[in-house]
Amino acid sequence: MVTKAGILDSTLREGEQTPGVLFNRSQRVEIARMLSDAHVAMIEAGHPLVSADIYSAIKEIMELKQSGTIQSEIIAHSRAVAADVDSAASLNVDRIAIFYGVSDMHLRYKTHKSKTEAMDIIYDAISYATSTGIPVRFTAEDASRTDINFLRNIIKTAVEAGADRVSIADTLGVLTPDKTRFIFNNISDIKDVEYDFHGHNDMGMAAANGLAALEAGATIVHTTVNGLGERVGIIPTQIMAVLMKYHMDVDAANLLMLKALSAKVEEYSGINLPPNYPVTGNYAFTHKSGVHVDGIISNAGTYEFMDPAMLGMHRSFTIDKYSGKHALREKLMGMGINLGDSEISEVLDKIKNNNMVYSDEDLKAMINSSDNQRC
Ligand code: COA
Ligand code: ZN
Repeated sequence: MVTKAGILDSTLREGEQTPGVLFNRSQRVEIARMLSDAHVAMIEAGHPLVSADIYSAIKEIMELKQSGTIQSEIIAHSRAVAADVDSAASLNVDRIAIFYGVSDMHLRYKTHKSKTEAMDIIYDAISYATSTGIPVRFTAEDASRTDINFLRNIIKTAVEAGADRVSIADTLGVLTPDKTRFIFNNISDIKDVEYDFHGHNDMGMAAANGLAALEAGATIVHTTVNGLGERVGIIPTQIMAVLMKYHMDVDAANLLMLKALSAKVEEYSGINLPPNYPVTGNYAFTHKSGVHVDGIISNAGTYEFMDPAMLGMHRSFTIDKYSGKHALREKLMGMGINLGDSEISEVLDKIKNNNMVYSDEDLKAMINSSDNQRC
């Protein structure tokens, strides 16, 4: 059992549910290896019944697990259906995760089951899966829109049937941190179970809700690299890992690997991060305005929550009309150009009168032409 907080990375399952994203077998295996090297506690490797290539990739991942190359716990996804459970069990994964929609909306319009029928289906599927000897997690899909008393009954049913973990899924991303805490505060007395939180990002609240879930008793938060997943995705692995380090001093992943993971998943998913994406976006540690850069030069802690080197990232700053003399002097010194105060003012005047961003080459060209004019 996980006793301290950790991350379950679902890039290979939830992440591949992103519109347009399909990984091939070697990409899946490489992503799993990188996630394990980054020390994430759990990897949701896929839903093996979905296709033969997902099945065979999970098989290869399990071979690497058995040889010790992969260390993270490997999880296979499954509906509450015997054929899904059989497929997952045949791979001898570390855990089978059985999901079932438990809100009135899902019961009425998706599975067309009454509450009693749903409880029986969930009980039977979990009992069947645990009879294989493989640990089972139950995911209460759409838990955040489920009556709290019915959710408690569902959790008790899942635990009685043999599940030792239950995932509380905010499937539509409708929670806030307060509402997340309300759910966990109302289920935390149920014995013999630990909780996961699975939060979608439809209204941009997923990461904040993940932190609230951990504070209220969840021990695992589901994430995907770059926040991939159905619609707009779930909690980004890089954001959750940094939140857990900053606010809880928990090492849920090797932070130094976050940039490499993010870049690899950009390449394999074909979905590029906007530069202003938190943590691993190209502008995460790029500073612009003069007052900020002046502070950074004196002490980077003035405008950086963490040293970018801890994240495998680099600090930089841009030069344009927002720059001040300290930024310009620092930039030029980095290029091996040392100018006196009056020359710095002269160059800065030109920059202020040109509405453009100056690359190193632009700056060199401008300084050379100023020198020529003086000759
Ligand atoms: N447990 C049991 N049954 C479930 C379920 C669950 N958690 N969730 C949905 N179902 C049922 C639906 O009621 C529907 O049943 P029906 O066939 O009796 O009408 C069926 O599963 C889903 O419909 P559909 O996807 O059209 O059926 P399918 O048999 O052609 O394909 C999959 C099933 C799982 C193989 C296919 O949907 C697939 O490859 N899905 C990708 C994985 C996925 O959907 N994951 C969601 C994770 S949140
Ligand atoms: Zn999801």
